[in-house]
Amino acid sequence: MNRSISVSLLPDLLDAGDSIADTCAIVIDVLRATSVMATAGAAGVTRIHTCQTTIETRNLAGRLSPRPLLCGERDCKPIDGFDLGNSPAEYSRGTVTGREMILTTTNGTRAINVARNEKRLLTASFLNLTATLDSIADEDQLQIVCAGTNGRVTYDDVLLAGAMVERLLQRGSCRLKNDSSRIALSSWTEISREATALVDALRRSLGGRNLIAAGFDEDLARCANVDSINGIVERPDVG
Ligand code: MLT
Repeated sequence: MNRSISVSLLPDLLDAGDSIADTCAIVIDVLRATSVMATAGAAGVTRIHTCQTTIETRNLAGRLSPRPLLCGERDCKPIDGFDLGNSPAEYSRGTVTGREMILTTTNGTRAINVARNEKRLLTASFLNLTATLDSIADEDQLQIVCAGTNGRVTYDDVLLAGAMVERLLQRGSCRLKNDSSRIALSSWTEISREATALVDALRRSLGGRNLIAAGFDEDLARCANVDSINGIVERPDVG
């Protein structure tokens, strides 16, 4: 297969020259939106909707029956009146099994919105890395989209993009279409040889520092649990 991989370190850096009609987009927000989505999927949530604003989230919830779970964060913190915040720890089977959820987050759901018209759209995390790569084995145009943090590139997303590039290269020949894919790969290879390196690197990342400041230190290890979930998240309903 003549596969090409392009990495966008921020949603706004998506390559306008790419033909979205043929492209499979994989959106990454390691800390924490796409880790939450993988966790919720594994815990039995029936459908994931994403919205950009809290008002849109409440409006959509009003139109759905039975009422979905309202989920997400602002400034990393749970939103007043919502059912769940943005910590994977909250998405247990007892809480989400059999329920639909609507997620709104500062950066992750925005990145999903930017990629919504691509031929395929998956969201990925370290938690479901291998499952995601298995599911895109037949795709020849891959566009990895990092959510970033408030318009800034964040190391946590870059590392997962790099891990994906490394594993894809191991699986067969690929053409790296842009320098962001090479930057992501070098970032990942620099840290990937030591067992505790991923959590330590997440601590140093912009997203990680924000979470530590907000009291969500423990979520870093939760989001670094590579391949703990054998399931994918494909095409959430983008509201
Ligand atoms: C985001 O979308 O910016 C993140 O998911 C932030 C967070 O986890 O609090």
